[in-house]
Amino acid sequence: MSYESDRLRNWYLLFHYGSREEILTDTEAGADLLPESFFQFPVATPGFRTDLRPAEGERALDIGCAVGRSSFELAKNFSEVIGIDFSQAFVDCGAALQRGETLSYDRYGDMHLPTRLNAVRPPDTPSESALTFEQGDAMNLREDLGAFDLVHAANLLCRLPEPQRFLDRLPSLVCTGGHFILATPATWMDEYTPREQQPTGPTLDMVKQSIGDAFELLAVEEVPFLIREHQRKLQLSSSQTSLWRKK
Ligand SMILES: C[S@@+](CC[C@H](N)C(=O)[O-])C[C@H]1O[C@@H](n2cnc3c(N)ncnc32)[C@H](O)[C@@H]1O
Repeated sequence: MSYESDRLRNWYLLFHYGSREEILTDTEAGADLLPESFFQFPVATPGFRTDLRPAEGERALDIGCAVGRSSFELAKNFSEVIGIDFSQAFVDCGAALQRGETLSYDRYGDMHLPTRLNAVRPPDTPSESALTFEQGDAMNLREDLGAFDLVHAANLLCRLPEPQRFLDRLPSLVCTGGHFILATPATWMDEYTPREQQPTGPTLDMVKQSIGDAFELLAVEEVPFLIREHQRKLQLSSSQTSLWRKK
């Protein structure tokens, strides 16, 4: 499904900005037993195993930022944050929230029976922070982006037609001593990534092989996430999340 579609916009606005109550309100018995961590993914991965206390002037990049929640989390700490996504519709959402606009979106009950909800800029996000959103391609990022103290790429890698091109760019995208956070559910699908571009072994091995000379692997952990499609369809996944430091 296209990341430009209304349905994806609705799913991702709820995933990134909906409260646990908004996500679960009309779901069946048992949903209240789901752990809180299932609802924290876009807030949790930007700070994965780092204390996120950057020095003044440090910069962060959220690549594949979708509608922007993780970019806002980074903006609470970094002096400059850029959120980049291939979908214009998604980065438009992030930019509108950053301007202080309220975004209406649909939560699906029965799939054909939506309820209107609102998303606003997350609390405690400085409105004056240097957070910008732009459309761009992770496999062909503009040359003048510069280098970042933190690059965050959540659930992006297995949506790229040529993931290797993104991995090849990383050493020049991260400052020496800077960090790279990669979260991937490794849901490789031929419609996004042609078979010959997919890893032949474990995804982490492919990443190690690509960036292992330039980066030290510091930590690996599974981080769960839940995307509500509709009242009776809650998509539960786990993203293998790794923290790397540029040598
Ligand atoms: C599965 S979503 C994950 C979004 C977000 N990081 C999250 O964790 O919720 C994948 C995102 O990658 C974006 N994307 C796909 N191909 C891309 C590319 N070539 N460059 C940048 N973003 C891309 C999609 O538009 C979508 O927002």
